Amino acid sequence: MKGGRGFRKEMIMWWCMLLLSLLGTDNKWVRGQFDSNGFISIDCGLSENDSYIDEHTKLSYISDAQFIDTGLNHYISKEYTPSLSRQYLTVRSFNSGARNCYSLKSLVLGSKYLIRATFLYGNYDGLNQFAMFDLYIGVNFWKTVNISDAVTPIIAEVITVAPADYVQVCLANTGGGNPFISSLDLRPLKDTLYLLANSTQSLSLVKRLNAGPTDTTIIRYPDDRHDRMWEPWSNEPYWSELTTTSDVSHILTDQFEAPSAVLQTAATRVNSSVLQFDWAPGPLDNSRSYWWALHFCETQLLGKNQSRWFNITVNGLMWYAEPYSPSYLLADEIYGKYGLQLPYYNVSLVATGNSTLPPLLNAFELFIVLPVANVPTDSGDVSAINAIKEKYQIKKNWVGDPCAPATYIWDGLNCSYSSSPRITALNLASNGLMGDFLSLFSELKALQSLNLSDNNLTGSIPDALSQLTSLTLLDLTGNKLNGTIPDGLLRKSQAGKLTLRVGDNPNLCSNSTACTPNEQKKDNGSIRVIAIIVPVIVVVLLVALVLLLCMLKNKKGTGGEQYSDFSKAGLKDDLFQPENRQFAYTELAAITNEFTRIIGKGGFGTFYHGTLEDGTQVAVKVQSESSSQGTRDFVGEEEEEEEEEEDDDDDDDDDDYYYYYYYY
Ligand SMILES: *[C@@H]1O[C@H](CO)[C@@H](O)[C@H](O)[C@H]1NC(C)=O
Ligand SMILES: *[C@@H]1O[C@H](CO)[C@@H](O)[C@H](O)[C@H]1NC(C)=O
Ligand SMILES: *[C@@H]1O[C@H](CO)[C@@H](O)[C@H](O)[C@H]1NC(C)=O
Ligand SMILES: *[C@@H]1O[C@H](CO)[C@@H](O)[C@H](O)[C@H]1NC(C)=O
Ligand SMILES: *[C@@H]1O[C@H](CO)[C@@H](O)[C@H](O)[C@H]1NC(C)=O
Ligand SMILES: *[C@@H]1O[C@H](CO)[C@@H](O)[C@H](O)[C@H]1NC(C)=O
Ligand SMILES: *[C@@H]1O[C@H](CO)[C@@H](O)[C@H](O)[C@H]1NC(C)=O
Ligand SMILES: *[C@@H]1O[C@H](CO)[C@@H](O)[C@H](O)[C@H]1NC(C)=O
Ligand SMILES: *[C@@H]1O[C@H](CO)[C@@H](O)[C@H](O)[C@H]1NC(C)=O
Ligand SMILES: *[C@@H]1O[C@H](CO)[C@@H](O)[C@H](O)[C@H]1NC(C)=O
Ligand SMILES: *[C@@H]1O[C@H](CO)[C@@H](O)[C@H](O)[C@H]1NC(C)=O
Ligand SMILES: *[C@@H]1O[C@H](CO)[C@@H](O)[C@H](O)[C@H]1NC(C)=O
Repeated sequence: MKGGRGFRKEMIMWWCMLLLSLLGTDNKWVRGQFDSNGFISIDCGLSENDSYIDEHTKLSYISDAQFIDTGLNHYISKEYTPSLSRQYLTVRSFNSGARNCYSLKSLVLGSKYLIRATFLYGNYDGLNQFAMFDLYIGVNFWKTVNISDAVTPIIAEVITVAPADYVQVCLANTGGGNPFISSLDLRPLKDTLYLLANSTQSLSLVKRLNAGPTDTTIIRYPDDRHDRMWEPWSNEPYWSELTTTSDVSHILTDQFEAPSAVLQTAATRVNSSVLQFDWAPGPLDNSRSYWWALHFCETQLLGKNQSRWFNITVNGLMWYAEPYSPSYLLADEIYGKYGLQLPYYNVSLVATGNSTLPPLLNAFELFIVLPVANVPTDSGDVSAINAIKEKYQIKKNWVGDPCAPATYIWDGLNCSYSSSPRITALNLASNGLMGDFLSLFSELKALQSLNLSDNNLTGSIPDALSQLTSLTLLDLTGNKLNGTIPDGLLRKSQAGKLTLRVGDNPNLCSNSTACTPNEQKKDNGSIRVIAIIVPVIVVVLLVALVLLLCMLKNKKGTGGEQYSDFSKAGLKDDLFQPENRQFAYTELAAITNEFTRIIGKGGFGTFYHGTLEDGTQVAVKVQSESSSQGTRDFVGEEEEEEEEEEDDDDDDDDDDYYYYYYYY
């Protein structure tokens, strides 16, 4: 009874851990990442665990420590701090690595997000040198950041669809000085907003302007519930302001949801019937297409003899097909179906002949259409390689996506790029790897070449490696492996499908039948002791492991990719001899009559009496796959329990029992 209850409790715990892991393995990601709006607001360079409420937006800004492992925190120079928003007072800078990445996790795959990064140099390093570096959104180029003074913030914003349940924001050093960052925001957007942003293209903001503002403040949250930043835009004395205090309404299918505060003001012309503005692409952007939206709303109640009609032209050609008249207090937008690629853009609002009023404009948004051409690496490979990175504490600069873009492929990897990139080769020779987590490598399902030579790897070679159908080279030379070489690998090697190198492993036995001690014995006893391996119990032990990891992670920042600890910890591995039967928890409960009869207890767990379907009596023992000491105890305890016979653990001549030997 006691045992059964224990199992149930642990099953519940297991489910809790599973849920936790679905939310993000690293519990730090779950803690305080999103605010009640679903926003993530990160002040980069703020010390770990610090947070504050921004005085203007009342949004809670948190430290970036839980989103990144690399980089150094700095304060900007004191001479620049007065009058700056708090987000600009600290930066995180990156003086090593070609690419450094923030990971925003627990997102919804396929959902739309606005991601904004800001950069204010403030002479944080005392060098007064202005850097130039590239930004990537995931595996795709986003923007070049060109810092040209110490105090003007550069704001990069992209509207993008998450290609996975996480998005990475990467800063790439292109030789123009150390990248740095001041803040990073993530805002979820409804799918129906900004329809041009989809899974094959993102929108990188160039300008978002509030025409005819009443003051010089930037309008953002809470006036804009999506926390877009609308900069004031005026053009005195040529433009004048029109304002209303009445609320502006939106039609239900509005694709922009521009805030009232922005639409309540408009710019119009003084002494002219043409409202015009223009831009030319910079040298970095001249091969890109631009897409924009003009926001309109009539702010004046027009008299019977008044009218406001105008044509919208681009470079003198009608852009919107017919004359346009904005509606009173109703939000409306005119925007292109596609991006346009021109050497020069002159957008003009030209009053028609019968219009008594000059044209007006309430707001303007301009974007560069970014192709989403690079696809992230296969998610199974990403989880596996990150598990390997974490378990072996790999010190290489393994950040961002492992394979993409190809220019930033991780050291020691080769990938295939046919559709979603796959890891095809991994070379970790002479990397000081220690431990026995070799089965992790079998999760890299497309692996063709695996070189782990000249490390300190221990334990045995998992049979799971022979399941890698594409593997043609396996080099384990120069480690401290023991046990035997799995038959599957030997067969492949003998068939010439696999180059297998296992030399210089003093304790490794190359012939499975010759070196298996404690193997199956005679069957003439009264009670058959069958070791029943219970996946459930393995999981229980893994829960303990996960809890331990959680505790450790609270001490030490980890970051990196999200992966499921226990799915990588050998559950599916073929760790046991084929003679062992595996039972589901329910079968086991039936066999042991709900764990009612305890027949023994050892340092390594409890034994229960059980009866198989065919009447065979068995002792049910819970066994960890992770400890060799457990195996020895197991054998020892069995012998003590029946105590009619002798007591030597290593004696293979005990007639009454089956003993099973486990490989690790
Ligand atoms: C970077 O900014 C500086 C100063 O504004 C400018 O002179 C330079 O051309 C810019 N570089 C590029 C590549 O746009
Ligand atoms: C994304 O939008 C562009 C432009 O409207 C369109 O050509 C493309 O097919 C869209 N992609 C998807 C996946 O819908
Ligand atoms: C507009 O016209 C009026 C009267 O003709 C003149 O006083 C004013 O200076 C003009 N304003 C501008 C900006 O040209
Ligand atoms: C429009 O009508 C109002 C009176 O209703 C008059 O004061 C105003 O001058 C007229 N404006 C024009 C442009 O005719
Ligand atoms: C832009 O186009 C308008 C209308 O075609 C024209 O009046 C104006 O002169 C143009 N502006 C520039 C700077 O080319
Ligand atoms: C506005 O467009 C209409 C329809 O294309 C055209 O007939 C009219 O001449 C245009 N007006 C001006 C001022 O360009
Ligand atoms: C002005 O002209 C447009 C077409 O050019 C027409 O649709 C509109 O009704 C006219 N407005 C007035 C007040 O006549
Ligand atoms: C990747 O491929 C290149 C070229 O074929 C080869 O030189 C390199 O050794 C490979 N790397 C790994 C890790 O196998
Ligand atoms: C293996 O570990 C030992 C110490 O535990 C160390 O001296 C040795 O250099 C390591 N060997 C390799 C190849 O890393
Ligand atoms: C293999 O090595 C591990 C230690 O790394 C040890 O615990 C285990 O008993 C060894 N297994 C065999 C079969 O020697
Ligand atoms: C393993 O050893 C046994 C007996 O020692 C021998 O019969 C068998 O051929 C060996 N197998 C291999 C693959 O060397
Ligand atoms: C942040 O909090 C964790 C857990 O409470 C703690 O272990 C860590 O030392 C704290 N870090 C700093 C810099 O205070």
